[in-house]
Amino acid sequence: TGLITLDDGYVNTGSTKSSVTFLDGEKGILRYRGYPVEKLAESCDFIEVAYLLIYGELPSEDQLARFRLKLRRHTMLHEDMRLFYDGFPRDAHPMAILSSVVGALSTFYQDSLDPHDKAQVDESVLRLLAKLPTIAAFAYKKSIGQPFVYPRNDLTYCENFLQMMFSVPTEPYEIDPDFVEALNLLLIVHADHEQNCSTSTVRMVGSSNANLFASISAGISALWGPLHGGANEACVAMLEQIRKDGGNVKKYVDMAKDKSSSFRLMGFGHRVYKNFDPRATIIRASCEKLLKKRSIDDPIFDIAQQLQEVALNDEYFIERKLYPNVDFYSGVIYRAIGIPVQMFTVLFAIGRLPGWLAHWREMHESPTKKICRPRQIYVGSTEREFVPLEKR
Ligand code: CMC
Repeated sequence: TGLITLDDGYVNTGSTKSSVTFLDGEKGILRYRGYPVEKLAESCDFIEVAYLLIYGELPSEDQLARFRLKLRRHTMLHEDMRLFYDGFPRDAHPMAILSSVVGALSTFYQDSLDPHDKAQVDESVLRLLAKLPTIAAFAYKKSIGQPFVYPRNDLTYCENFLQMMFSVPTEPYEIDPDFVEALNLLLIVHADHEQNCSTSTVRMVGSSNANLFASISAGISALWGPLHGGANEACVAMLEQIRKDGGNVKKYVDMAKDKSSSFRLMGFGHRVYKNFDPRATIIRASCEKLLKKRSIDDPIFDIAQQLQEVALNDEYFIERKLYPNVDFYSGVIYRAIGIPVQMFTVLFAIGRLPGWLAHWREMHESPTKKICRPRQIYVGSTEREFVPLEKR
């Protein structure tokens, strides 16, 4: 083991070369394929950004139109997939449903599982992008006992998702353009973040030549954890708890500093960003804009701002360079749109999907691709004498 270097949590280990996303944690820079995320968030539609991440270039008008057309062909789920939803308990977490149903896509599309067949991979990429919002919205409808609402191909990606989530057959449903704008922005800022936990998972699973559906299903499971994508749900739960507790933010900041407790400020800190998280800056501005425009007075937003203020002036957080991350304000926007807390991480998954797809493809296109197989430093017993069962 002399040659093996230990790097717990891969803090300093580059697992791959990549040309998808550039991130500078000291300067707070995030670029997809060279384009600053701020610029993309203010100018693009999520599908345009998905195209950029997956294929490497911004699409021309014609390319984008063809891409949208292809996606539209795949928005519905196979009718037999509806039966899956009958088997889940009503209170199933939608992330569990998402990973299961995405994994199950590999049973419905058995003729497109070869990771080395370009045409098959292209088809699977389209299927995943087009179907994930449908799978997610069905999970929500199941949880509230309403009938599933089918996708509508005359709508944009975000419009369609909102109508599948919120429309009911008995009432006319009007899509709110402010909500569409906010959702589009949120999906864009979540779209990629280089070798984070879920993306590394997608690459690792894919490195064994597992099919794309299986790899993405694994990525969804990794994203679910509260230290990763699940932090948005945990953050709103925390803000809600502080509100119920009389809004005493200082108490929670002190608790987060206390090493004898496992409590952490959710939505704070990042492995790579050490000055600010550019995504949090974009989301906070969008949050302010949406709440103001719609005259929404959300006490959770006030608490978030107070918490940020106290934490950012506290020695503990300053020393450790802990700043609000992408998950700190996203939940406030989701609430304003009417998205229930359990669906927050699902929204993160829909946003992150193009990044996962881009990385999976990049890995398979690399001439130096190898199966991921880290080593270890063994710290267990040396050889021991075996003791038969009756003598133990
Ligand atoms: N509250 C209190 N203390 C913290 C926090 C926090 N949110 N985050 C880090 N610390 C402390 C930590 O206890 C440690 O202190 P010490 O040096 O005294 O032992 C120090 O800061 C460094 O933390 P770490 O856990 O070694 O850092 P990491 O790079 O391994 O973890 C993190 C990064 C994001 C998992 C962590 O900051 C965290 O748990 N944050 C809360 C959960 C969260 O918001 N996650 C979302 C991340 S962004 C979106 C995404 O990736 O999905």
